[in-house]
Amino acid sequence: MRNETIAVHGGFDRDPTTRAVAVPIYQTVAYEFDSAEHGAALFNLEVEGHRYSRISNPTTAVLEKRVAALEGGLEALCVSTGQAALHYAMLNVADVGRNVVSVPQLYGTTHTMFAHFLPRLGINVRLAASDQADAIEALIDNDTRAVYCESVGNPAGNMCDLASLAAVAHRHGVPLIVDNTVATPILLRPFEHGADIVIHSLTKFMGGHGTTLGGAIVDSGRFDWKAQGTRYPMFNEPDASYHGLVYTDHFGPAAFIARARSVYLRTTGSALSPMSAFLLLQGIETVAVRVDRHVENARLVAEFLRDDPRVQFVNYAGFPESPHYLLAQKYLDGRACSLLTFGVAGGFEGGMRFYNALKLVKRLVNLGDAKSLACHPASTTHRQMSAAEQRTAGVLPETIRLSVGIEHSDDIIADLDQAMNCAAVGG
Ligand SMILES: Cc1ncc(COP(=O)(O)O)c(C=O)c1O
Repeated sequence: MRNETIAVHGGFDRDPTTRAVAVPIYQTVAYEFDSAEHGAALFNLEVEGHRYSRISNPTTAVLEKRVAALEGGLEALCVSTGQAALHYAMLNVADVGRNVVSVPQLYGTTHTMFAHFLPRLGINVRLAASDQADAIEALIDNDTRAVYCESVGNPAGNMCDLASLAAVAHRHGVPLIVDNTVATPILLRPFEHGADIVIHSLTKFMGGHGTTLGGAIVDSGRFDWKAQGTRYPMFNEPDASYHGLVYTDHFGPAAFIARARSVYLRTTGSALSPMSAFLLLQGIETVAVRVDRHVENARLVAEFLRDDPRVQFVNYAGFPESPHYLLAQKYLDGRACSLLTFGVAGGFEGGMRFYNALKLVKRLVNLGDAKSLACHPASTTHRQMSAAEQRTAGVLPETIRLSVGIEHSDDIIADLDQAMNCAAVGG
């Protein structure tokens, strides 16, 4: 089925007990065993079923199936936030002393995780000088366990050439892990271009209404962990914490998600609540329709900004003059994302004045809501970085990041117009 249909029906037909057609919210912590033997078999992973909602839950399971199907993957694990999903995916591939090679254009908290948090756990993340395959390859060595990128960088708006990053990763026997939050599977399915693992913040376009945090890890099922032998002992050697289970033997191509669930979700517990899973499913039903409107509104807003002399620059991959244009044609079929950045005159102060003058567009740090949202990265999400790190991440002092919503485009443009007048007067 096509993604428009999967978004509405994926992972669920009707409730087997009540025949309800809406996904029921299974608000339960635990599930009764038929017998002592049944409980033992569940714990031994010999039979399928739920035991405890920190590990799995029927409502969340529908969300997992739907997200996996939208990405064209084998399986998904849904957790409480996008950051939890990223954290678990990183821990799942890299032990102490190993490294991950990443593009430098990253969401601010991902940068913090990579530059400051994972190194304290003994996992070094090497940030390449650019998102080009040769810059990534230059940093790969025998201890590298994954290559990482955002398909569309937040907030830089850079488009990663997934096929060439996947080729480099695979040449060195490691997977390509891609955060596909900004693009969504409606615009881009990274597995079709060689990626192995996809990460989502479901908090954004997937949920789509700014109500609910959630994250997902999706596995294509195609990376052959077994073929890499001792490079990935966590999948190929007995797990003492699970009575000697070897994940690749027991779960075959589904080893990645099984281990993320039974090691990281089970022991550290960033579980998604069933209510949140339900709200995210509701949001996903309309994601294809919403993304169409987001994309069209973003084009109109970008054109307005490009034609306005008060605007210093617009970074929008839909313009032929954008350095990301050709890759946007290739990977997004020309439908540039609705996250764009621009700058008004006056540097940091000019950016702050414009930001303060917005009326309809919300001042906050989120994206992918039905509402139009604006962020001033230099004073918020990226303020902990040095000026040089900000520049590499695609942030200038005056940069405003706009997540164009699904309101009428005339109203969004009118708000930007009046805020630019206020910013100019204040200067
Ligand atoms: C690209 C990207 N990835 C991951 C995240 C983290 O998501 P969450 O807030 O659900 O943890 C964000 C949040 O803004 C993001 O923009």
